[in-house]
Amino acid sequence: MRTLKACLFDLDGVIVDTAKYHFIAWRQIAREQGFDFRETDNERLKGVSRQRSLEILLEVGGVTLDADAKLCLAEKKNALYLQYVMKMTPEEILPGAAEFVKACRAAGYRTAIATASRNAVTILDLLRIAPLFDVVMDGNKVSRTKPDPEVFLNCARDLRVAPVECAVFEDAEAGIEAALTAGMLAIGIGEPTILKKADLVVPGLSSLSVDQLGFEANNKTVRS
Ligand code: BG6
Ligand code: MG
Repeated sequence: MRTLKACLFDLDGVIVDTAKYHFIAWRQIAREQGFDFRETDNERLKGVSRQRSLEILLEVGGVTLDADAKLCLAEKKNALYLQYVMKMTPEEILPGAAEFVKACRAAGYRTAIATASRNAVTILDLLRIAPLFDVVMDGNKVSRTKPDPEVFLNCARDLRVAPVECAVFEDAEAGIEAALTAGMLAIGIGEPTILKKADLVVPGLSSLSVDQLGFEANNKTVRS
């Protein structure tokens, strides 16, 4: 039987509705570079680092730039993104997300944020939800971007639990891939057609109960 001890949450698109602001900011950068960036292409940017997102964006637009120009553009995108982020209020916490994290803690699970974002601490403070997490593993603390499992394995290490005792909540394909490579239960937040490899996909944390989580963990053991 698989015993869950910890729940690891991606931030953008799982806890807060920042995914739309990333998209708006990248689309503006694309327009300035002379091409259109569509929402379907945006799926590839979810979960990966800012620098890697820029590489993908430029690949989509067929644009080649030198390293300095790329650094400049990444900074510009972040400044645009932060204009939206700094105006965020707790209303932009995704429906049911804070309640679900609180229920996990009440059930005795340890909790962590596992994100590629370097703005995570700012966002958690702005939304006043930082105390809900025992560990915040962000883009400043990891060297390899999802689908590498590093961010999740670091969370397990800092929470002093085994990877197999962790459930991951992710809205990105790259994040689901990373969770599975880490040997964790992978819960997709979003569309089953996109998050095909996840152990379970729900539209949002408001559709999931902590009891169901325990059931899924047992079910995964039976399947594997
Ligand atoms: C991830 C997002 O959470 O953070 C990515 O899904 C984003 O789209 C990455 O590129 C890095 O975020 P930031 O805030 O450091 O630019
Ligand atoms: Mg995400």
